[in-house]
Amino acid sequence: MPKRILSGVRPTNKLHLGNLLGALENWKKLESAESYFMIADWHALTTEYESKIKIKETVIEVVIDFLAAGLDPNTSTIFLQSLVPEHAELALLLSIITPLSWLERNPTYKDQIKEQKGKELATHGFLGYPVLQAADILLYKANAVPVGEDQLPHLELAREIARRFNHLYRKNVFVEAEALLTKVPKLPGVDGRKMSKSYGNTIDLSDSPEEVDKKVMRMVTDPARKRREDLGHPDVCPVYYFHTIFNQKNHETVAQECRQAKRGCVECKQEMASYLVRFTKPIYERRKELERGRSKIREMLVEGSKKARSVACLTLAEAKEAVGIA
Ligand code: TRP
Ligand code: SF4
Repeated sequence: MPKRILSGVRPTNKLHLGNLLGALENWKKLESAESYFMIADWHALTTEYESKIKIKETVIEVVIDFLAAGLDPNTSTIFLQSLVPEHAELALLLSIITPLSWLERNPTYKDQIKEQKGKELATHGFLGYPVLQAADILLYKANAVPVGEDQLPHLELAREIARRFNHLYRKNVFVEAEALLTKVPKLPGVDGRKMSKSYGNTIDLSDSPEEVDKKVMRMVTDPARKRREDLGHPDVCPVYYFHTIFNQKNHETVAQECRQAKRGCVECKQEMASYLVRFTKPIYERRKELERGRSKIREMLVEGSKKARSVACLTLAEAKEAVGIA
């Protein structure tokens, strides 16, 4: 069991089921360690600075998602990156010692520039994204960072930066954090591609049971199964994949009946939706409740950020002392 963990999400959108299974469910299990869960609004800004989205509003939605999903602000520290200015300050310090070549070969930098067409992402800030992420992790001396596979290059950079700093100043200020890889495979969205806001194929934690039903009924199925009599292939069907998660007890029967054309896709979806809603409805209802107290949410975040800051400022002071400023 790790001693101290830290993880973060970028508040560009409300969270969806993929985020819940890919991150939050895992975080909940780690709350017995000293845990910091951060809303990375500076990181969000690096890709959204040209867009009209109001990050400040999305931040509150994401906190509501955290709490509705069951994170406990009394057990873990839930905080907002920009309310802890030490993140920006340490990021500057680390940027001074990070060789440009390390950042230029970061695969996510190149990928995102290609993927997010129409955005000007060849900026200083976006190139430095992993430096800011390293600051997030190193400020808390986290030993473990629960993340998905896409974040591994950033974790590796954070370790390299920590090592370089400790070596340059001959002090053990920073701890090298390990990745705690989340093992859940990528949840498909309603169109069968990976669930992602940018594909518009998500089931959100804020969707009502009716919305969840509607989305499930629109889901793609085995494309080869055009008529009810056609034998199905559950392994290529996203509806079946959802059965394996939300209807674990009966999913083998579902697969068998599908292969033998003993069940139709409409009934199959209806059945899956009823299991899925059993899971999402309590989250939706907690969300509704929490939405009524938005001002309290902001207060909670301010409190969490103060707690985080009390740790962050100690590490920053150590780092400044080591380099010999202030
Ligand atoms: N880059 C992460 C992502 O896109 C979010 C993030 C920011 C993060 N700071 C972090 C994750 C620190 C882990 C630790 O998912
Ligand atoms: Fe998918 Fe179910 Fe249709 Fe089979 S019966 S193709 S598992 S929706």
